[in-house]
Amino acid sequence: MVTETIRDDAERKQVTVLFADVSGSMDLAEQQDPEEWRKIMQRFFSILAAAVTKFEGTVDKFTGDGIMAVFGAPVAHEDHARRACYAALQMLDDVSDYAAELRRGPGLNFSTRIGINSGEVVAGAIGQGGEGEYTAIGHTVGLAQRMEALAEPGKAYVTEHTAELAAGFLDLDDLGEFEIKGASQPVGVFELAGIGRARSRLDLARSRGFTRFVGRSREMEALRAALADAEAGHGGVVGLVAEPGIGKSRLCHEFVQHCRADGLEVFEAQAQAHGTSIPFMPVLQMLRAFFGIGEREPEQASREKIAGRALLLDPDFAAELPLLFDFLGVPDPQRPVPQMSPDARQRALGDVVCRLVNAPTRHKTLVLLIEDLHWIDGGSSAMLAELIDSIEGTNTLVVVNFRPEHEPPWSGSGAYREIPLRPLDREDTRALLQDLAGQDPSLDGLDESIHERTQGNPFFIEEIVRELVEAEHLVGERGSYRLARPIEGAGVPATVQAVLAARIDRLDPDAKQLLQVASVVGKEVSGQALGMTAGIDAEQIEPVLRDLIAAGFLYEAELYPERVLAFRHPLTREVAYGTQLADRRTATHAAAARALIELEPERHEELAALIAEHLREGGETRDAARWSARAAYWAGHSRPRDSLRLWQTVSELAGELEEDEETVALAINSRLLQLQYAWRVGMGSEEQARLAAEVEQIATRHNDLHSRALLRVATSVRPGLRHEAKAWLAAVAETVALADETEDPHLQVAVRAAGAYAYLCTADFDGYERMLDEVLELAQGDRSVGAGVILASPTAWATMGKGMVRRERGQYEEAEELFERALQLTAEEDDPETASWVRSNQAGLRAVRGDTEGALAIARRNCELTERLGDVFSRSLALANLAWAQIAAEEYEDALAAIEEAERLYREGMDNGGEMEAWRMQMRAQALLGVGRTEEAIGVAGDAVEISRERGMLWAYPIANLVLARGLDAAGREGVFEALDEGERIAVETQALSLLKDIRAERDRLAASDSITA
Ligand SMILES: Nc1ncnc2c1ncn2[C@@H]1O[C@H](COP(=O)(O)OP(=O)(O)O)[C@@H](O)[C@H]1O
Ligand SMILES: [Mg+2]
Repeated sequence: MVTETIRDDAERKQVTVLFADVSGSMDLAEQQDPEEWRKIMQRFFSILAAAVTKFEGTVDKFTGDGIMAVFGAPVAHEDHARRACYAALQMLDDVSDYAAELRRGPGLNFSTRIGINSGEVVAGAIGQGGEGEYTAIGHTVGLAQRMEALAEPGKAYVTEHTAELAAGFLDLDDLGEFEIKGASQPVGVFELAGIGRARSRLDLARSRGFTRFVGRSREMEALRAALADAEAGHGGVVGLVAEPGIGKSRLCHEFVQHCRADGLEVFEAQAQAHGTSIPFMPVLQMLRAFFGIGEREPEQASREKIAGRALLLDPDFAAELPLLFDFLGVPDPQRPVPQMSPDARQRALGDVVCRLVNAPTRHKTLVLLIEDLHWIDGGSSAMLAELIDSIEGTNTLVVVNFRPEHEPPWSGSGAYREIPLRPLDREDTRALLQDLAGQDPSLDGLDESIHERTQGNPFFIEEIVRELVEAEHLVGERGSYRLARPIEGAGVPATVQAVLAARIDRLDPDAKQLLQVASVVGKEVSGQALGMTAGIDAEQIEPVLRDLIAAGFLYEAELYPERVLAFRHPLTREVAYGTQLADRRTATHAAAARALIELEPERHEELAALIAEHLREGGETRDAARWSARAAYWAGHSRPRDSLRLWQTVSELAGELEEDEETVALAINSRLLQLQYAWRVGMGSEEQARLAAEVEQIATRHNDLHSRALLRVATSVRPGLRHEAKAWLAAVAETVALADETEDPHLQVAVRAAGAYAYLCTADFDGYERMLDEVLELAQGDRSVGAGVILASPTAWATMGKGMVRRERGQYEEAEELFERALQLTAEEDDPETASWVRSNQAGLRAVRGDTEGALAIARRNCELTERLGDVFSRSLALANLAWAQIAAEEYEDALAAIEEAERLYREGMDNGGEMEAWRMQMRAQALLGVGRTEEAIGVAGDAVEISRERGMLWAYPIANLVLARGLDAAGREGVFEALDEGERIAVETQALSLLKDIRAERDRLAASDSITA
């Protein structure tokens, strides 16, 4: 089945669809003999078909009284919308000529209506076994047909979608919005009125207002050097080569501006995408410019201008004038051109052009610019070659530009210099963006991501900004936008899509298919994985890859130890991805997952998330859930944000599967683990409650003790809740009992380690130590027991906790040693999270011991390391301990900033101040005291006392009282000794000996100063 869908070569494509029919055909047919009518219709069809063919569209079908044509499929054209419009204008013209004939003849009132729309279709063969007719299907088609039905006789209507792509190149009259049957939104409709002023994308950019010209100084330098050579009599050709949108035209434009400013003569011509089949367009354009012939110049006047200028240059041109007149479309009826073969005629013309350009009487330097040489027709190309052949020794500079896939026939000529244009670098991209979007602070980082996506292609940059504005990601005025919504999820602009799809379609079918497969596998793929996914063996894939590399789609990002191919352009990947049918993509994703699993057995852990993603996209939900869980375990506590996200994915996937033993386990565990990460990185309380309820429901239904214990941890034992001592300790006891009931040592250890924290916060240091000793005993020296269930390494955590108790007891050396050992364990267990907590406590210990330098150093380093974890709980803790060190060092301003940030982080993540609220408050009070905001300090210290007493979080109680006493004393207020007494009482009761010493020292100090003042 898989292979069958892969073989279906239908594709999603951006195209323009055109419908044309006879208006009122029923009535007309009635007036005619059927045979006559058939002849009329046949002639009509052939007029329509000719116009379609001329602009390289495809007649999709005959509709009975008209046709449906598609532009941009099977082969994509980047200007599909323009082509359709040109074809429509041609049809209107030709049909109106024919209608005149019919009016004169059978007296019929014949006219056509045309409707045009652009957008995505699925194009491919349809019919039995996928072998039928090639056709385009989709809403885009229906809307085009509605446009036709809406159009008045003799008119062509286009939708806003086509208008967006064709604006500027065509003249469009806005008819306003229409309610269209089958379209949910009103559709903007335009009447096609004629050819527009713009000939190139650059014209369009100019009409919108150019962005500031950035970079390109080296290239400009080279152009000027070539100009100087030409002025010195060494004429030549310069070719600027780059992919579409890199800025060839713009650079040329800036250069010729400079030339004109210097008073030089410049003539420009432009080859057109739809013009390869229209001979001599660029040469004619150039000659008209040369002779100064305007678009609507009368014939006689044109001839006068041609003759005048040619004869002035060289009287010998008299003989060639008839030929020139004829070529420029203004034949002189008095002097017909002599009969000659087309070849001879072309040679003669080429000769005339060369002589005109290089006429010896013309001493002034001449600059000829030909744009988009890759689209040049054969006739013009031959003439240009002739010109270049004789350019040496003249004052002529020819500047051309073209895309890398083109190679001009004269590229070996000594007069030729090639300048490859590179994409804009980061700096230039930033400058361009500033000009387009401005410098609002909300745009910070936008340049990076846009550079990333566009790879410095200025056309893509401009279009993406326009798209962001249109989709209201950016709001405001050009040059001063603000970011209103994050830019993720913004699509590829239709204009860019058209250019890239056309490039992809020019590849041969094998290369194109491999590129599509690669786009599914990833932005970087190993050659081997790509081959296996595509089902192509090593030898076969090699030449195809070489093509893709040569054509600039892929590059070799790495060669050793393995060849890795990467997309040169992220947007190409998006487009290649988007052109495939969903079925085919699904199959490819699944194949990619299997290839990775098979080829990279050593990197399964690391690749698990990617494999899971492919499996999910590949529709293999159960395997996707398994691999996501594996990836989540691997991310573990060292990347809590990734873990949370991956567990969310597992929950989603498990929910899509039928309930069985495995899926129930996945459903429960993924939720429990989300809740675990909730207190680390933060999660709204509603979301938490929802998860808890879901676990409860599933666990009860399956009578799962294990899960209920872990749920209890998540809902009432873990940190980050607004704990009350009594309830908290009760919950811990209950959960420990539940865990013991399971007789699973892992769970017993894990629950005790997590629950122990409640004793610390409530200042039951003995209880705390007892629980930690149980952790160590149950683990029996095996560090893997209970590891990762809630905390990454319970042994390290217990060792640290015992150090905390020593610190509270004033046994600093022992505390120091235990912390050191705990840190060692975290390193061995690869547990950056616990390591962060240990360092936080180490810093606090140093602060208590008066080693302020040491405290600051450890605390600063810890903040840095913890930042990488992305864990709100740990970052807040690290900052609070930094504040502690800063207070010890009397850096009060910094301390205040640090503790306020710690508070903000915590509250943002947890919805409440958690069990350490009072502790952080007393720290803030100390900082406030330090900066002299005494009254505030007293208020905050008082609140800290209140909160810790009310909730029974007595660990913070003595210190909060001590700080309150200091504040009251500083303010000369009453109650100093009461506060000290209160602190002392609890310090004695809880045996917080370290603080007890401080409190008593404070009292002695105050008593001494009292007796002095007394
Ligand atoms: N150096 C540049 N500085 C500012 N804008 C540029 C620069 N180069 C190109 N652009 C803009 O990018 C768009 C695409 O450039 P263009 O010259 O049309 O590309 P190309 O001719 O290579 O397809 C244009 O709108 C142009 O104004
Ligand atoms: Mg260009």
